[in-house]
Amino acid sequence: MKNILVINGPNLNLLGKREPVLYGSQDFSEVLDELKSDFPDCTISYFQSNNESELINALHAAADSGIEGAVFNPAAFTHTSIALADAVAAIDLPVVEVHISNIYGREDFRQKSYISKYAAGVIAGFGVAGYRLAVSYLVRS
Ligand code: DQA
Repeated sequence: MKNILVINGPNLNLLGKREPVLYGSQDFSEVLDELKSDFPDCTISYFQSNNESELINALHAAADSGIEGAVFNPAAFTHTSIALADAVAAIDLPVVEVHISNIYGREDFRQKSYISKYAAGVIAGFGVAGYRLAVSYLVRS
């Protein structure tokens, strides 16, 4: 049994409707249902926010509340937020950074991640399947 938290950053509440060519047409609630059925021995909880400070607080709270690993898609904050990078560095928890799109094949400004240095690993470009790859890593770690 593993306690895993999936955290999505800004605009990912619009998944399914937002730029489907890049991010697919699945709503995240469907992705979450699939994760729960693919990993029946895990407790998978979910948090999404468009607000940087709420994401920081969620990372801090995860580390203090029995969560054993986090899957984190910081979305646009990936490329801007030293505060979120510091939060990932500060907590004693494996965090897998996930991007639905291949950020390295897109605009130059997306090719810098402040988070990656502190992540256990980075998954990008496999669509929403990246969340499943991240959970499979965490259940074995
Ligand atoms: C994203 C990539 C980011 O550059 C972008 O700002 C997002 C989503 C992804 O999942 O591919 O919002 O993190």
